[in-house]
Amino acid sequence: MSRIGFCLRRLQGRASGTTAARRSFFTSQSSSQDTSEPQRKYTPRRALMYVPGNDDRKLAKIPSLGADCICLDCEDGVALNKKEEARNKIRRLLDDRPKWNFGKSECSVRVNAVGSGMCADDLNVVLGGENLPDAVHLPKVDDPEELTWFVQRYNNALAESENEEASTTVSLVMFIESARALLRLPEICAMAEQLKMMSNLVPEAVVFGSDDFVADIGATRTTAATELLYARQKVVAVAKAFELQAIDLVHIDYKDLDGLKKYSEEGARMGFTGKQVIHPSQVPVVQSAFSPSEEKIEWATNLIKEFREHEKAGKGAFTFRGHMIDMPLVKQANNIVQMKDRLS
Ligand code: COA
Ligand code: MG
Repeated sequence: MSRIGFCLRRLQGRASGTTAARRSFFTSQSSSQDTSEPQRKYTPRRALMYVPGNDDRKLAKIPSLGADCICLDCEDGVALNKKEEARNKIRRLLDDRPKWNFGKSECSVRVNAVGSGMCADDLNVVLGGENLPDAVHLPKVDDPEELTWFVQRYNNALAESENEEASTTVSLVMFIESARALLRLPEICAMAEQLKMMSNLVPEAVVFGSDDFVADIGATRTTAATELLYARQKVVAVAKAFELQAIDLVHIDYKDLDGLKKYSEEGARMGFTGKQVIHPSQVPVVQSAFSPSEEKIEWATNLIKEFREHEKAGKGAFTFRGHMIDMPLVKQANNIVQMKDRLS
């Protein structure tokens, strides 16, 4: 199928979307006939774990990792002279995917950045077989135009492969790793939202690439990461404005599990939904920090119950376990219950 045919089919298939962005994109078509698109299943990415695509010993660990998201890496975890080996190994792994036993883990691939000159080759190989990954990660997205280029290349690679899975959706995870990217993040997210009508890529998450960001702004990395506070808060706020997941920085001192727990909990409190992980021992610590505790679930469930009773009695604010509760707290409790439901 030609790329144009593919894009048109995607456009037709998605013309019934319900979000404001979709409606405005299709203003020339009827919006009064909108029908609801089924809700896309939430894929948790509490731990986003990198496995270098060329490293057999690490690839062999896939069935035991238990990370929500396993990211087979072609980018910075792979040396320049191993890039071809990595993308070919990943292709073979996708061909034999059932043998690799991903369990509940998402099988995703990080290609090289648009500016690297290697992205098109990665896409041609990774999308060139029968099975697609569940998600594609695009690092170092500096501006929205890069996304347009990427989606065109992605569509070309799929069209050339005559891939039978071309109509199934693939999640798109975008990396913000420079000052320019941070400034343009709202435009990048808006472009991703538009482009999803032209391909089978569905934007789902923004990852904060802190080490590249530190290098880009000329900062010095500290343990407390105060130099990253503004950027991290901005990533969370913009990602949430576009209903995307926000994934926090890597804790590179991978033997320091106490520090990992502390900084994971901090990230969760800031609104991040997950964290990047580089070593198997980091997975359970991070996944636990990004899951609501039993105590929180109990608090939220009972708060919502009491809220409903007070609401019936016409009361907007009430006291619950010694604290004043009004709508913002009810919304926070709802977030906790919703996350529990998504993880179960
Ligand atoms: N994925 C899968 N398995 C991994 C792994 C990973 N990311 N990191 C370590 N392991 C495996 C090792 O292969 C080893 O198993 P083996 O003895 O059967 O080979 C076991 O876990 C214990 O590893 P350990 O000896 O403690 O660490 P290491 O010296 O092998 O590796 C790192 C340490 C940091 C080099 C490694 O964790 C790594 O490469 N992580 C990914 C880095 C990356 O992708 N960076 C780019 C994104 S930020
Ligand atoms: Mg990076």
